[in-house]
Amino acid sequence: MCGIVAYAGYRNVAAVLLKGLERLEYRGYDSAGIALMTAEGIKIKKKKGKVNILKHEVSFFDLFPASIGIGHTRWATHGVPNDVNAHPHVSSSGRLALIHNGIIENYESLKKELESKGYHFQSDTDTEVLVNLIENIQFETNTSLEDAIRLATRAIVGAYAIVVIEESNPDQLVAIRKGSPLVIGVGNNEFFLASDASPIVEYTKHVIYLEDLELATIKNMSLSIKSNDEQAVDPIIERLEFELEEIEKGGFDHFMLKEIFEQPRSIQDCFRGRVDADKGIVTLGGIRDHMSKMISAKRIIMTACGTSWHACLVGEYLFEEFARVPVEVEYASEFRYRNPIINENDLIIAVSQSGETADTLAAIGLAKSKGATVFGVCNVVGSSIARVTDAGSYTHAGPEIGVASTKAFSAQISVLAMFAIKLGYENGNLNPERYLALLKGIKEIPHLVEKVLKLSDSIFSIAEAYASASNFLYLGRGINFPVALEGALKLKEISYIHAEGYPAAEMKHGPIALIDSEMPVVIIAMKDGSYEKIVSNIQEVKARGGKVIAIVTEGDELVSKLADHTIELPPVNEHLSPLLSVIPLQLLAYQIAVLRGCNVDQPRNLAKSVTVE
Ligand code: G6P
Repeated sequence: MCGIVAYAGYRNVAAVLLKGLERLEYRGYDSAGIALMTAEGIKIKKKKGKVNILKHEVSFFDLFPASIGIGHTRWATHGVPNDVNAHPHVSSSGRLALIHNGIIENYESLKKELESKGYHFQSDTDTEVLVNLIENIQFETNTSLEDAIRLATRAIVGAYAIVVIEESNPDQLVAIRKGSPLVIGVGNNEFFLASDASPIVEYTKHVIYLEDLELATIKNMSLSIKSNDEQAVDPIIERLEFELEEIEKGGFDHFMLKEIFEQPRSIQDCFRGRVDADKGIVTLGGIRDHMSKMISAKRIIMTACGTSWHACLVGEYLFEEFARVPVEVEYASEFRYRNPIINENDLIIAVSQSGETADTLAAIGLAKSKGATVFGVCNVVGSSIARVTDAGSYTHAGPEIGVASTKAFSAQISVLAMFAIKLGYENGNLNPERYLALLKGIKEIPHLVEKVLKLSDSIFSIAEAYASASNFLYLGRGINFPVALEGALKLKEISYIHAEGYPAAEMKHGPIALIDSEMPVVIIAMKDGSYEKIVSNIQEVKARGGKVIAIVTEGDELVSKLADHTIELPPVNEHLSPLLSVIPLQLLAYQIAVLRGCNVDQPRNLAKSVTVE
């Protein structure tokens, strides 16, 4: 949700910023802009649309060599996507330029106050209010930019990561964050600031994750950080664990396709060093010291948004089946506003790919304030959720760039499966035989996923047959019901076809009315406990002329006779089957979206990291 990048160093500033913005574009692509500190003062270029459009202004960038600069790619909140609302925003006097990721909730009252002091605003954004607030504080108190920013943060309510430049200090970048992420890259005689490490990794592996309300100043190539109470902070420099290739397409047409095909490896990476099927050991270092809390928990509440919420629904089946602990799954955005009943006997598991989702962060804050222990399951190392939770495990799926989540989902399920199996064994609900059988099942998964990916070509012919459909229905039962939800979400997100996921048995309570010969129905009908029931559901669809695309277990003859198309998956432990059944749904959505000419990696209106409520 908006990406910000800033640079101070010896390289071509505009080139570093533009490349950085391209890497951050998954966070928003409504507009892009950069501000350069040049010999002639601050020069700004900003444009509605993607970074690529901004890049066409090459002559402008060549004209103004710069010492430092800031850049922004926007996901619109306040004000429509246009050139004026694009960042960076400048103060009325033109002395300050600012980029912002987040939302200033009380911007209207601040705006009125500034207007009463004679300020005029060009844009509809909260950010233009903020840059003028800082300038006004500087004027009224005759203070430094750093002090003015600090004072401004006392007046604003909301989430922000900002970087500000000031014409009278041409070698200085000042940044602060609260709620929105900000990473500092420390190179050799150069510094980077960015919403995440993707614009940085190409130049340096040394990063500092700024904490809430820490104020960072880069001046004359030296960095200083101050805490909220003005104490100097000795920062911890961490080493980035990923390589540049991981954030490039590597020969695939789209990041999403690359990420789908990475799943055998990403799932393997998630289990590596944690599951030893031969010795019957599950080692989860991140929660080792909290196992007693996990065992004594009377209830588990899982919370997340989007695809991560679907992973939680799968997790609910796993925990209840293996560990016999009651589980509730909550949308973080609902949970946080519902005055939920939580106490210190509850274990909260917050799941997030980015580790930055604003609603999930707020839900965690609420749960902690009520005394609950919170575990995090995050993909992005060093992210806010990873840092505010009491304990947790990373999914180790590697950077996920495609806006529609794929490999992060399977890695989340993999971590939740390990949690649930470990807990079930430790609390005595899984006997040793079943425990060992599950661990052996886990060991097989990466290889089985690889087999499923080989079906890509045959899925393409199904995609061709239905690429022009207007609606889709996805049905599943039991642990594959959340997979049906996820399949529908994937299709909606990237192909803009209306799709609904439903528990198969619920179809007759409503969606069945939609079924006619124009309605493709994707049904997960693997050989599991609910197989016979789902065969009846397929018959109900066929009786009404619907077109059935069935995901079945290899060798299934019954469903193959009924369905219009079958996709055969290798036999797998029923409770691990979502790790396989989701793959054809990801491929189907991807191929349909490509056939419809959609921008698969950057679907309209969406952003990968949702740092606003
Ligand atoms: C956005 C993304 C989804 C993601 C959701 C939750 O909507 O487009 O792919 O599932 O946010 O994000 P998180 O990072 O918390 O998993």
